[in-house]
Amino acid sequence: MQKKYYLTTPLYYVNSNPHIGHAYTTMAADILARHLRATQRPVFLQTGTDEHGSNIEKTAAEKNIPPKQWCDDISDNFRTLWKTLGINYDYFIRTTDKQHEEAVQAVFEKLIKTGDIYKSEYEGLYCKSCEAFYTESELQDGKCPVHHRPVEAIKEESYFFRLSKYQDPLLKYYEEHPDFLSPSYRAREIINFVKAGLTDLSVSRTKVAWGIQVKSDPAHTVYVWFDALLNYITGRGYNPDHISEEFKEYWPADLHLVGKEIFRFHGVIWPAMLMALGLELPKKVYAHGWWTVNGDKMSKSTGNFIRAEDVVADYGLDAFRYFTFREVTFGQDGDFSMEAFRRRYNSDLANDLGNLFSRIINLVNRNLDERLPEDPSSKTYAEFAALTDKINRSIEDLQFSDALETIWNAISTLNKIVAEKKPWEMAKKDPEALPGFLNEMVWCLRLIAGWIEPFMPATSASMKVHLGAKKAVSEGEKIQPLFPRKAENRPEGK
Ligand code: MSP
Repeated sequence: MQKKYYLTTPLYYVNSNPHIGHAYTTMAADILARHLRATQRPVFLQTGTDEHGSNIEKTAAEKNIPPKQWCDDISDNFRTLWKTLGINYDYFIRTTDKQHEEAVQAVFEKLIKTGDIYKSEYEGLYCKSCEAFYTESELQDGKCPVHHRPVEAIKEESYFFRLSKYQDPLLKYYEEHPDFLSPSYRAREIINFVKAGLTDLSVSRTKVAWGIQVKSDPAHTVYVWFDALLNYITGRGYNPDHISEEFKEYWPADLHLVGKEIFRFHGVIWPAMLMALGLELPKKVYAHGWWTVNGDKMSKSTGNFIRAEDVVADYGLDAFRYFTFREVTFGQDGDFSMEAFRRRYNSDLANDLGNLFSRIINLVNRNLDERLPEDPSSKTYAEFAALTDKINRSIEDLQFSDALETIWNAISTLNKIVAEKKPWEMAKKDPEALPGFLNEMVWCLRLIAGWIEPFMPATSASMKVHLGAKKAVSEGEKIQPLFPRKAENRPEGK
């Protein structure tokens, strides 16, 4: 049996509700998973929520809600959003799941036994928002490099993970597996960080009550990152005390998709933890860039914030999925503005694809009888069919915008052909040639409907219905546009 392609998203913190940033990683995972399923590859997509730690404890306390109830509510909101966004995930893990908590405890005890975790005292500079310690040299203007907030000097008894021991094995692994850290332009920074020297990592807290207790020393709770990273194996049935058969079907993971700010956790700490457990490393960790909104960091407090739900309600899910993966190369940073969104919506979707499609389908309904010719042979069709491999490769390399660009170039080729041949005149001037021409167009559109399926599942399905051999629309009736045009300067929500 072919091994399942196992891919994951990060587990999202439940201290606030999801935004387009979270939606982005999850949709990327869904696009790849849909593509692989369509090519008959068994796939397993895991996502979930990261629910422990002082940030969540504090947020819940501020709202006067017990932490577990808070987690239940926000975790639910993530699942609701994934439904709205058409995410076909296979498993949703929560770090408060009993099975996960027990496995984390067992891992901790195992590593205490092997000596990879030991007890000592920690003194360091801590960013509460990252839930991470920084060295003096990592700070920017004396502040956390991610949140630009002051860090705190903290001293406490702590368990440590012997990260330093894995410096050389990690460097060797990076060298022997050049695709492990991707894209390569983001890998350099990680490799240099490891080369500069790794220090052991504090992996327990005595001050955080909302966490998984260390079994042999209940005054300590497990550091959230140590807890959360383990989800990738605990969610697939791993527990060091009883490694299940199921786990072997999934591990090693084929791909961890992460944002660039957590690449280091996934490229350094996580592989070192796996080495300590004697497990194989994932095949690839891919870090994508960050979205700004209207040129600025997304922020609830300044209102510079776009909710995925609102865009979907207004423009439809497929337009949202299309824009986010067409606008920016997956890997690089990008900017989300409704102005840019509307522009692409009207030009790429309403015009290029939508108009082409309704023109052809209306002509087909008017001029062909119920049976469409079966034979796809034509020069354009052959050229189009040859693009399938290229598109597949782009998706498998996570170059989503390249795939969409290839598809939209093909759409524009069809539009040019239609403009030249003027099939609406052909009906009068050269009726013999019309069925052959429409046949060619239908076959090319069928290919396009197949190509866009992972990105725009509903549009693809609706195109396929109309492109089927049966008449989907009765005589004289016009089909509904795939993407109704929207006024360029319309206020949102209208
Ligand atoms: N809980 C940790 C991850 C633990 S994984 C074992 C975490 N959670 S998070 O809620 O902050 O979500 C982080 C992820 O959300 C990022 O890695 C990225 O995938 C996505 N994004 C959050 N904001 C983003 C943008 N502004 N732009 C793009 N993606 C961003 O970190």
